[in-house]
Amino acid sequence: MIKLTKYFLMVVLVLPVFFGCTGNASTVKSDDDVEKRVESLLSEMTLDEKIGQMSQVDPGVFGGLENLKKVVRNGQLGSVLNLIGAKEVNELQRVAIEESRLGIPLIIGRDVIHGYRTIFPIPLGMAASWNEDLVRESAAIAAKEAASMGINWTFAPMIDVSRDPRWGRIAESAGEDPLLNSMVARAMVQGYQGDDLSDPLTIAACAKHFVGYGAAEGGRDYNTTVISDLQLHNVYLPPFKEAVKAGAATVMTAFNEINGIPASGHKHNIRDILKNEYGFDGFVVSDWASIQEMISHGFARDLKHAGELGLAAGIDMEMASRSYNDYLKELLDEGKVDMEWVDDAVARILRIKFRLGLFDNPYVDESLADSLLVNVEHLKVARKLAEESVVLLKNENQVLPLKKGTKVALIGPMANQPYEQLGTWIFDGDENDSQTVLEAFNAFNGDNNVFFAEGLEYSRDKSTKGFAEVERAIAQSEVVVAVVGEEAILSGEAKSLAELDFVGAQGELLKLAASKGKPVVMIVMSGRPAGLFKTQHLAKSILYAWHPGTMAGPALANLVFGETVPVGKLPVTFPKGEGQVPIYYAHKMTGRPADASTWTHIDEIPVQAVQHSLGNTSHTLDYGFTPLYPFGYGLSYTSFEYSDINISAKSLSIGESLKVSATITNTGDVEGAETVQLYTRDLVGSYTRPVRELKDYQRVTLSPGESKEVVFELNSDQLGFYFPDGEFVVEPGDFHVWIAPNAAEGLRAEFELQ
Ligand code: BGC
Repeated sequence: MIKLTKYFLMVVLVLPVFFGCTGNASTVKSDDDVEKRVESLLSEMTLDEKIGQMSQVDPGVFGGLENLKKVVRNGQLGSVLNLIGAKEVNELQRVAIEESRLGIPLIIGRDVIHGYRTIFPIPLGMAASWNEDLVRESAAIAAKEAASMGINWTFAPMIDVSRDPRWGRIAESAGEDPLLNSMVARAMVQGYQGDDLSDPLTIAACAKHFVGYGAAEGGRDYNTTVISDLQLHNVYLPPFKEAVKAGAATVMTAFNEINGIPASGHKHNIRDILKNEYGFDGFVVSDWASIQEMISHGFARDLKHAGELGLAAGIDMEMASRSYNDYLKELLDEGKVDMEWVDDAVARILRIKFRLGLFDNPYVDESLADSLLVNVEHLKVARKLAEESVVLLKNENQVLPLKKGTKVALIGPMANQPYEQLGTWIFDGDENDSQTVLEAFNAFNGDNNVFFAEGLEYSRDKSTKGFAEVERAIAQSEVVVAVVGEEAILSGEAKSLAELDFVGAQGELLKLAASKGKPVVMIVMSGRPAGLFKTQHLAKSILYAWHPGTMAGPALANLVFGETVPVGKLPVTFPKGEGQVPIYYAHKMTGRPADASTWTHIDEIPVQAVQHSLGNTSHTLDYGFTPLYPFGYGLSYTSFEYSDINISAKSLSIGESLKVSATITNTGDVEGAETVQLYTRDLVGSYTRPVRELKDYQRVTLSPGESKEVVFELNSDQLGFYFPDGEFVVEPGDFHVWIAPNAAEGLRAEFELQ
């Protein structure tokens, strides 16, 4: 029962009369209605209660539930994160509703990043599916499962464009491209929030980390970023704009500084761009203590000053640190912050709580979890998304797929790791639900055909004592499947690496496997693009699986044995080595563009080469200028031919669109699906433009021998870009357009924008 607080009585009894409606006000959810309720509630609140709404704490850090209840009862808390259990949430919510003066419900946050109990592939893997519907569905499932435990707010999606595989958090992102990150942003926001945020099985999304976090210098987490305004607007901001457009309820600021100003104290970015220009009407939460951390940054003198800067910048709710709680009153008295900012922040928080339906329906049905957690339907989607996230990088002699019944030596430290296959940020995943590659191979191929020998106990294991067993397994087999990579703990927050090569003795294990004269299939489970340069020649086939989640085993068994044909495409460029980082497809041309004719590999340079005898273009002597695998790359068990690129007009005017098409033919023996990509290049701009930019993509499924025309509509708006001041400009001029299987290939046509 909801306690009939003063506020509740006013809403139910007074407001309907006042606003001339006779229905039950608590069930009306129109925006107008919400705004009226926000305004009315705000006018009832004391300053202490307002400041309370702007604070979020973690019960663990705050000294337990009883302590928490005290501040909730006093109306001094707006949100908790990491409160676990439907019963516990209801208990605390009851204190908020029944025992606090105004009965304002709490919003309960949690990192539900790639699934709650059912774990989907890490976000980088999801992005590799390029499948918006499936990503949306996974987020909707995660929302349901989380909601059944009383969570009504997730800190996802993370949509930080990341171009550095050393950065551990690349695992949580959608990779290097603004369009692909925007796709994931939209899909996840829609998935978590559904059509109706007040539905008890949807939760509020949080687009994070605003902004530029992925540009950490040297790939070291939390590090400084130097981002030009041109890059900020064209690369890092677009996914956030898309998340706002999709209705993201909240946005989280980042830990990093940008060009000297911490992201959590960046008034221009938060107030001017996000709130004013994008029209974001939800609330902004800091990252964990990121307001307080402005002291370490050397931007705030002390906690009080940090609070002043955080509020001035536009952070509405403070996570974990207590500057608002401790100092906002004083800051207001001293006239250092405006009451208007406080009211705006509280209004935003209340708005989201109203939209979530928390005032009308604050409690979670404690029986829901029984049917929602560990649900077969959820596992099916997890398997499908895991399958689609895997990228086939190599398949010499069509070693894959294997025939059922093939004698397989299954080796490698990641082949039977129920916990590690889940990846980073899986607070609520359960390794007991996981199905491993070993289990799935045994089930699918018959355990008498699977000879399992890990070789290494874990990825960093340098001991070769298990290699003898590996040799015995290989001796009994026709094919070797080596599952290598890195454990979950080696990627994610603060888990950056300087080197990308496989850790431990995995390189030696692969060498041993390759030396036996039997084809080696490499499956890589990793939170980042691993350094494959030195080992990939040892394998005939490579399936890049990221961390695939709960259903890793069945998904990979289906792919290896050809029940499913790979469709994944890389969401990020694979460098030849860390020395090539950053390397990404949408780079600039330079005044001396690299090309093969001007590059001499270091091993080929004559002993006494004369200075200037080599080509002076943009490359490195050892790696050249091409990556190991380009963005958008991914093979299938069949092959596709691209032909007959066509454009409907040689020119278009601003405001118009044209059609670009090409014929895609399945030239192989099995049905397969291809993600066909549309890229453009603006040849001359007031600011130089990237050599290619992804504009669109479509998946086409083809039977053997079948051809289909794939048609893209390209409008002039897709050809514009942001000037450094944030103005979006469509400039007339000449363009190239490609219909392509990846960022390094494709059919090209030209047109003019008039
Ligand atoms: C991370 C956020 C996360 C928050 C709450 C921080 O350390 O950067 O992404 O949402 O913790 O757990």
